Amino acid sequence: MLEGRRIVLGVAGGIAAYKAVEVCRRLVDGGAHVVPVLTRGARRFVGETTFSALASERARTSLFDDPDPIPHTRLGQSADLVLVAPATARVIGTYAAGISNDLLTATLLATEAPVVVCPAMHAEMWRHPAVQDNIATLRRRGVHVVEPEEGRLAGGDVGQGRLAEPATIVAAVESVLARGRDMAGLHVLVTAGGTREPIDPVRFIGNRSSGKQGHALAAEAAARGAKVTLVTTAALPVPPGADVVRVETAAEMDEAVRAVAPAADVIVMAAAVADFRPAAAATTKIKKDKGVPEIVLEPTVDILAGLGRTKRPDQTLVGFAAETEQLRQNAASKLVAKGADLIVANDVTAPGAGFEHDTNHVVILNADGTEREVPLADKRAVARAVFDAVLDGRS
Ligand code: C5P
Repeated sequence: MLEGRRIVLGVAGGIAAYKAVEVCRRLVDGGAHVVPVLTRGARRFVGETTFSALASERARTSLFDDPDPIPHTRLGQSADLVLVAPATARVIGTYAAGISNDLLTATLLATEAPVVVCPAMHAEMWRHPAVQDNIATLRRRGVHVVEPEEGRLAGGDVGQGRLAEPATIVAAVESVLARGRDMAGLHVLVTAGGTREPIDPVRFIGNRSSGKQGHALAAEAAARGAKVTLVTTAALPVPPGADVVRVETAAEMDEAVRAVAPAADVIVMAAAVADFRPAAAATTKIKKDKGVPEIVLEPTVDILAGLGRTKRPDQTLVGFAAETEQLRQNAASKLVAKGADLIVANDVTAPGAGFEHDTNHVVILNADGTEREVPLADKRAVARAVFDAVLDGRS
């Protein structure tokens, strides 16, 4: 997996920098071409000669003391993966804020390759909300984070903050490289967000879906090389590389989905589509002094069930099931009723999961009777697991 892959190994200034030497050696032993980039802080802990001797190229340390006038763009563009081990709170914060103030942060901003970040710091710093927010931001952008481990820290303290073991880091690098652009050639259609069904020009029937899981799915598929169309109701940023169609109601979503579905290889219905809508929306604002209105509801079209009926054998259809009770039973009956290949079920009452959260806890049920559980993880990691299951089913 590592053979011939170009890896930029970023080393920041922490006592764990000595472990980066072992990471470097293991990557080179595995056949990778490793280019070390050391921050000024890193050089206070480990000499660049050590890295230059072990790596495939000499260690780089500066944006300016290099014969190449643009070392950061060259390093960023040519990398198959950028690994930062150890990543200090400073490098994590600078990267999350989009600031480039040395060769490593400039390279991180200049690369489109996958990035693996391995934090190491004192437990208090790791727990600090600023650091945790920055980590959440990076995760949302698709950066892979190898969590620090519990144990002895510098100065004899104990807690979570130790750099992960070199074997764990190398295994994470291998698994990210294995995924690579494994969705190239596939057209993926994703829906996201809750629909809004108008009662009158100012009021609507809506739901708690934020669209975050759907947007994370679109971003993940695009990062893995798929052509992505995202039909969304959410005012969230457009995931890099995805084509976006903005809609509001179930009927608009149905129309947008049916326009793209025949060309799609994979369809993921992550949107929370309303099941009912007002039979007639008032054309002017309903006045309070006219008394409490009676709003008559009618069913909306079930987009997923429609796709299930017309599905081609080479198409993979994924539905979502947001449940508050009997998760597996309800999701399993939805799998059959809607003609889907996979159902991603989540208990929206579980802590940290479901609507509006950045994290989710799901069970992916397969029409072949198998299932896989994804424990509480950020929505991008859930997206990763969903597409791993999709690809398993197509192989
Ligand atoms: O039936 P229920 O709403 O629980 O099913 C959820 C799944 O069905 C989701 O994948 C959702 O996107 C899809 N759905 C749909 N059209 C509807 C209602 C739900 O496509 N009108």
